[in-house]
Amino acid sequence: MDETRRWWEATAAYFQDETNISVGLDWGPGVPEGTLDILPPVKNRTVLELGCGGGQLGVGVAERGASQVVGVDFSRAQLGFAAELVADRGVPMALVEGDVTQAPVRSDWADIVVSAYVAQWVPDLTAMFSEAARILRPGGVFVCSLPHPFYGVFDPEDGSFRRSYHEPGALRFSEDGIDVEQVLHYRRISDIFEAVQAAGLDLERVAEPGDADPAAYEDQWDSKPELMAHVPRTLVFRASLPEG
Ligand SMILES: C[S@@+](CC[C@H](N)C(=O)[O-])C[C@H]1O[C@@H](n2cnc3c(N)ncnc32)[C@H](O)[C@@H]1O
Repeated sequence: MDETRRWWEATAAYFQDETNISVGLDWGPGVPEGTLDILPPVKNRTVLELGCGGGQLGVGVAERGASQVVGVDFSRAQLGFAAELVADRGVPMALVEGDVTQAPVRSDWADIVVSAYVAQWVPDLTAMFSEAARILRPGGVFVCSLPHPFYGVFDPEDGSFRRSYHEPGALRFSEDGIDVEQVLHYRRISDIFEAVQAAGLDLERVAEPGDADPAAYEDQWDSKPELMAHVPRTLVFRASLPEG
């Protein structure tokens, strides 16, 4: 099994417990859709979530009237949490086990594709974005969030430099009690833009939410207020599949 998938199988229960993500339209910790207005109306739309995890975003979309939501994730443990949430809320969200670079969803199906904080685990960003493009209908919209490339330059614990922005690539992290390493992929803004273009999508908007006041971050999960007051933690973009 892919090591990132194994990492998620090993940590899903801890992740869900620790983050306690609320159900709704959020692009990351402290980044509610209401502050960005980047997602088109979902009512009566077909929506695919790439990397649905515990389903909190997809269920939030379904509760806003999407006609059908499909969540794809390769972690059975994560999908188990999502299944509980879907059953609890009684919303039209189907859950499918699969990789975001080869999603078992038919082409030309979705009006909207969303993905929140997944791309950093995916080695081939173009493959993931191309999958979004394949599944979108012409004119459809892809909204994706991921860690901001500037944020990864710094050690979140003390703000010292951790790596050079100019050298994209993977970093490996090991944690006590987990026998598989976490592998995170660091990119430049230009790499993300080029992957969007290579997928045949048109970039429409980029959002870099943040506030220069450290006090703004006090209540967020895993918040590093000093660092976050200097560089954005999250990048969100919207891209669309050209008509015809
Ligand atoms: C941080 S969670 C994000 C979950 C959800 N989007 C949210 O905001 O709560 C990342 C998810 O991406 C999934 N994931 C990572 N790489 C993947 C891949 N290549 N294919 C499918 N799922 C993947 C993991 O299993 C995990 O559930």
